[in-house]
Amino acid sequence: MSKNPVIKFANFSEKLKNVVIVPVAKDGSVAAQASHIGGEGYIAGLIGKAGFKGKLGATLETYLSGDSGAERLILVGIGDPAKLKNDDWLKIGGTAFAKIGKSSEANAILAVEGLDIAADAAAEFALGAQLRAYRFDKYKTKKNDDKAEAGDVRLAIYVADVSAAEKAFEALQEVGEGVQLARNLVNEPANILGPVEFAAEAEKLEKLGVKITVLNEKDLKKLGMGALLGVAQGSVRPPRMVVMEWNGGKAKDKPVAFVGKGVVFDTGGISLKPGLGMEDMKGDMGGAAAVTGLMRALAGRKAKVNVVGVIGLVENMPDGNAQRPGDIVTSMSGQTIEVINTDAEGRLVLADALYYTAKTHKPRFMINLATLTGAIVVALGTEHAGLFSNDDELAGRLFEAGQKSGEKLWRMPLTKEYDKIIDSKFADMRNSSGRPAGSITAAQFLKRFVGDTPWAHLDIAGTAMDSPAGDYNESWGSGFGVRLLDRLVRDHYED
Ligand code: BES
Ligand code: MN
Ligand code: ZN
Repeated sequence: MSKNPVIKFANFSEKLKNVVIVPVAKDGSVAAQASHIGGEGYIAGLIGKAGFKGKLGATLETYLSGDSGAERLILVGIGDPAKLKNDDWLKIGGTAFAKIGKSSEANAILAVEGLDIAADAAAEFALGAQLRAYRFDKYKTKKNDDKAEAGDVRLAIYVADVSAAEKAFEALQEVGEGVQLARNLVNEPANILGPVEFAAEAEKLEKLGVKITVLNEKDLKKLGMGALLGVAQGSVRPPRMVVMEWNGGKAKDKPVAFVGKGVVFDTGGISLKPGLGMEDMKGDMGGAAAVTGLMRALAGRKAKVNVVGVIGLVENMPDGNAQRPGDIVTSMSGQTIEVINTDAEGRLVLADALYYTAKTHKPRFMINLATLTGAIVVALGTEHAGLFSNDDELAGRLFEAGQKSGEKLWRMPLTKEYDKIIDSKFADMRNSSGRPAGSITAAQFLKRFVGDTPWAHLDIAGTAMDSPAGDYNESWGSGFGVRLLDRLVRDHYED
């Protein structure tokens, strides 16, 4: 798996490295701390001749002569520095890092004219570099020579307040580790990562002080999780449920809860999916990966909050023992479900995982993440994940965390009219009701298992994987949800 670049912070007085990154604000303004590079007036002249306007995300690269020690100069446009917000510095960091290429020693002069860059922004810049450096190339026996080994790159970020930036990045780096863990889990093929293997990966969080409980098939049967078990029964690989607990808050505080869909591979079951593109269904555990990555992030930065993460791990396979369309299963809640379509399996897994979480942990709120429906990809594409909630305050906070983190959400409706659509002729409800409002009816289904608990469902089918490469993500599995929910917890739920 990819190694992180070595990232450090230092003073502007440090000497220049081989590659120097300099932010350029709109209209070509460069901070005094950088303006001497290449000789007095050199950068200003270059910007003028090249017509470089410092547009956010634009870059200009050139070579340096002279004896400053620096050989290459990378100018990165940042637009209007007073207007930078949210994930802009993260994007700038990712863009800048990509330009370093194979050089091993680089530094960034993080200063702009007339404005101090906050420590938080510097840390976001560093995180952008860390996330852009991520590679999943463990199965490539021949390495791509054109790409730098991220672990070989040493990036020094020169800032005004070194210790404040260090402190901010110390926490954010852990969030980055969480994102990378989630990406690794999503990218890993299903022959390597089954339910048992996924549970073993989650167990590794014990090192960070996370309490892990793994429920096996016998435990799940005893709990009466007929909905989850029905999905698993077509696979030779047994299901697991993993409960991860991080108690960083006050003992009396109710936990916040995150629940993830962990279908390690979704063939559709007897309602078999078409072959074209089916390989993508190795990523159908993106919700569980995000929850695991989030636990990694929160424990790593020792977040002052009690949190429980629950993931339902199954494989959805067609087999002589697989469940059939028309089968009726009894969920842990006691409610019965007619399985109209075995490919609508995620909601069956989550029905039991959500009910279990509400009942056993009585959380302050529950948020589940799931690559739940193709319909959400049709509705929102790869720009927003779908947000469904029974609680306006929670929904509002989530929306805002999405805007800030750049992992954006868009709220979708839940109403009793939509709920009625999933009534069944033979059981309490059916797991599929055809194409109209496909994402909403899936969410209505989940809602029937959450009781009075404030709850939100994030449909991440369009954002967890295969979204277009961005400034800080080149990976197929994006790790979507980790930074979003870390932000939510940080802004509202820590002591
Ligand atoms: N895992 C899929 C949803 C999905 C589709 C995720 C594309 C990522 C990309 C889910 O289990 C599924 O098959 N949903 C069905 C539901 C239908 C049968 C009611 C769908 O969306 O077609
Ligand atoms: Mn499916
Ligand atoms: Zn699925």
